[in-house]
Amino acid sequence: GFGDAAQKLDQSSSLRVPELSSAVTVLFGSQTGNAEKLANALYARLQQSGIAARLEDMASYKGAQLKRDSSLLVIVSTYGEGDPPDNARPFYEFLHGKKAPGLEGLQFSVLALGDTSYEYFCHTGREFDSRLEELGATRIFPRADCDVDYEEAAESWMEGVLGALAEGGSSRAGVAAAAAIEQSVAYSKKHPFPASVLENIRLTGRGSTKDVRHIELSIEDSGLRYEPGDALGVMPSNWPERVAALMESTGLAPNATVPGADGVETTLEGALLHHYEITTLTRPFLEKYAELSGSHELTELLKEENRSRLRDFLDGREIIDVVRRYPVPGISADRFVAMLRKLPPRLYSIASSPNANPDEVHLTVGVVRYESHGMERQGVASTFLADRVAEDGRVPVYVDSNPNFRLPEDPDVPIVMVGPGTGVAPFRAFLAEREASGAKGRNWLFFGDRNFHTDFLYQREWLAHRKNGLLSRIDVAFSRDEGGKAYVQHRMLEQGRALYAWLEEGAHFYVCGDAQRMAADVHEALLSVVAKEGGCDRERAEDYVRNLQASKRYQRDVY
Ligand code: 2AM
Repeated sequence: GFGDAAQKLDQSSSLRVPELSSAVTVLFGSQTGNAEKLANALYARLQQSGIAARLEDMASYKGAQLKRDSSLLVIVSTYGEGDPPDNARPFYEFLHGKKAPGLEGLQFSVLALGDTSYEYFCHTGREFDSRLEELGATRIFPRADCDVDYEEAAESWMEGVLGALAEGGSSRAGVAAAAAIEQSVAYSKKHPFPASVLENIRLTGRGSTKDVRHIELSIEDSGLRYEPGDALGVMPSNWPERVAALMESTGLAPNATVPGADGVETTLEGALLHHYEITTLTRPFLEKYAELSGSHELTELLKEENRSRLRDFLDGREIIDVVRRYPVPGISADRFVAMLRKLPPRLYSIASSPNANPDEVHLTVGVVRYESHGMERQGVASTFLADRVAEDGRVPVYVDSNPNFRLPEDPDVPIVMVGPGTGVAPFRAFLAEREASGAKGRNWLFFGDRNFHTDFLYQREWLAHRKNGLLSRIDVAFSRDEGGKAYVQHRMLEQGRALYAWLEEGAHFYVCGDAQRMAADVHEALLSVVAKEGGCDRERAEDYVRNLQASKRYQRDVY
């Protein structure tokens, strides 16, 4: 591309200004500094003209800002074989990727720098120009392609852009209002938004005992808002094989008509796939089924004095097991469906921050698959997300906000996060948020899982955060590696002194994950740490922890 002379112009300094709600952004992608220099010049001219503007390096430009900017003035060079400059690559990839948002309402113009002696002259600028248009943005002045001596062409492009901006004013507000009107349908639990799947990545390695997925969903144009700490409600569909098996076992025809969960007539197959829960055994189901089948055995099992026998029977069994064991010849589709409950949505703690990943929701999903009583079993929502979305690419979702699992309002307050297994999800969100907002408070993560080599979820992200200082501390516990079983609470006890010091400095303490055993054990460890390091008895320690809870400094998201 550019010769040595051009490289001398390279200036790596970039000016960062706070994000404005609606403004003109001059965005440059520069390898050797020419584009940056021109961007500086244009920025100065805009200011002289009284047009509110920001100057930004593509390296630090956040995709979120695209939706806030009214006008984007791109100055970018082309490198090598038509490649974008290094600093432009992340934004280039974002914009050309499938996560790029619609940009109706954005005005733009592109100044492309290049060298006509190269085959791919101004290729990157041309790509930005056509991509922005493709995404719905409005070109307010034609792209200019500059050769090595770019000054004159660049000058006339700047004049043209300034003229177009002065003429048009900022039309963003009007367009935004129109968009808001179109979006008057509010998505909610009753009316979930069909989110498309952007990513489905297996986090656990080969040979792991677990299949944990990182799922990214697009909530672009949904109007859905969330904060780190919130959960996403996912409305799954049932496993088609299990639906088929159920129809076969009951002898019911897939196309029989039945009332759906919404009261509207539908086919039995459709109802079993999308409306009703067909796995989990509930007491009301068992009672109705016992009556319908007239099974003495089942009726006996449901008696109060047989509680523990019932518990043993239910262990690892589902509706299909009951239907097969106690068949009801000639059962009608209506009667069968009438025993089922509505398919409930499943909640997943959100693993992303909207400020770091606008228009996206990330989930950390432990895929539930096991065998019991000689049959394969699948968790409905987790296998839906992992295996079955592909059919139409959409997942019905809504935001289930959780005001009791929130970062401290004060960005300087330190936080301690305990999140073994998929319980780490909201802490990925917390860290992303603190990174995006520039919060200065220290962050400490306790993570645990089975094996270091296969189950260290998001390992690279934590290490990167550790390196750049976002994570002050990370303590890990692997329960099935050689050298003995270790859980997060063991690490807490080992680090008791530091942990207590953090609490004394006002740290907030968060726990996410298994409620049955882990959360209780972690609570116990917290009490021990407080008693030991605070030099007090158990009762005082309980007061201390109760106080933490009362002042919302001890928050849990356990399930
Ligand atoms: P295990 O599966 O080897 O029992 C995430 O699931 C991690 O939490 C796993 O390492 C799991 O260990 C561990 N775990 C299981 N029970 C726990 C408990 N009571 N307290 C803390 N961690 C626990």
